[in-house]
Amino acid sequence: MSSASSGTGVSTVIDNIATLVTNDPSLGDGSPLGLVRDAAVVIEGDRVVWTGDSRKAPATDNRVDAGGRAVIPGFVDSHSHLVFAGDRTEEFNARMSGRAYSAGGIRTTVAATRAADDAELEANLTRHLAEALRQGTTTFETKSGYGLTVADESRALRIAARHTDEVTYLGAHIVPPDYAEDPAAYVELVTGEMLDACAPHARWIDVFCEKGAFDGDQARAILTAGRARGLHPRIHANQLSHGPGVQLAVELDAASADHCTHLTDADVDALANGATVATLLPGAEFSTRAQWPDARRLLDAGVTVALSTDCNPGSSYTSSVPFCIALAVRDMGMTPDEALWSATAGGAAALRRTDVGRLAPGARADLAVLDAPSHVHLAYRPGVPLVTQVWRRGVREV
Ligand code: NIG
Ligand code: FE
Repeated sequence: MSSASSGTGVSTVIDNIATLVTNDPSLGDGSPLGLVRDAAVVIEGDRVVWTGDSRKAPATDNRVDAGGRAVIPGFVDSHSHLVFAGDRTEEFNARMSGRAYSAGGIRTTVAATRAADDAELEANLTRHLAEALRQGTTTFETKSGYGLTVADESRALRIAARHTDEVTYLGAHIVPPDYAEDPAAYVELVTGEMLDACAPHARWIDVFCEKGAFDGDQARAILTAGRARGLHPRIHANQLSHGPGVQLAVELDAASADHCTHLTDADVDALANGATVATLLPGAEFSTRAQWPDARRLLDAGVTVALSTDCNPGSSYTSSVPFCIALAVRDMGMTPDEALWSATAGGAAALRRTDVGRLAPGARADLAVLDAPSHVHLAYRPGVPLVTQVWRRGVREV
């Protein structure tokens, strides 16, 4: 047991927790969620320093009574597109009247984003982040991809980097209209001048590998160029149709293959034998009335699965991880425990992080208190705003 008074900071205990999800199998009931009943968490500075049975909690300076509620790690949303302007209400409305989703709608947001000034883009980002925080998200990744010029992509990343360390360069979202006649020239730009301008502001590089966007050879060239500049790959793979994205992700040791809706057995095998996480984004299938990704098939094969929002104005305009958990349990074959693990520890794995997504000594003190005695209520009570408190880096923010 680490002592809560070993450091120099002020310590706080949150106790009277009916169910604590630690995501540390060595704690509590030994399940992947590491559940502890009648639990307490001790925080010092921005870290968790102790978790366990309430009655054994060390003495601290402050006490917060959780009132018999559940406490979970803050959600790790490892896939969003939040630097954008405008919205696509009309496109959504038309789709709900039968029009199909296609990558082409991205052009609408590109035009609006290019036309917006920095202040507008930042205000939009801040508003969506506050919305996500209220719903329990304490770590998030976000991407460029609605600028598609050297200046617009690099400013999107600069703005994103003021709010998160998990910034992804997605110059290869689609080929913009100005390059429609010469896609090879656009790939050259993305791997050349645009990469030079963007690499200093990003940790990751992503490609939308799909018919109508970038094919396998283009995706490989783009990710390889990014890797040579110190960016680590992740891929939008196998979203709208089957393609080479998942296999390429595993081959390049991408941290994550995202969407994974259309998979062959060979794709599932490759994921099971590689180090790439499969990130499932059910908000996209919900908002495009598309086939659900088969989480059960991936889990049964031993694949590590993450669950994220894909929050963007086109295919998935939700910032709510609890909503995605409910969809994953209802429609993708996940148990409530698996879905919560995937939205916390799974998201952390998709970002190759071990400091978030769990509540064990040494982890960042990022947590949500649910107005429910158990985490299962996240799926059991869909659409109900159960998140009542959010702590980030040891500070209560909601
Ligand atoms: O993840 N697939 C590519 N990009 C987004 C959609 C972006 C948009 O429609 O604006 C996605 O679904
Ligand atoms: Fe996406």
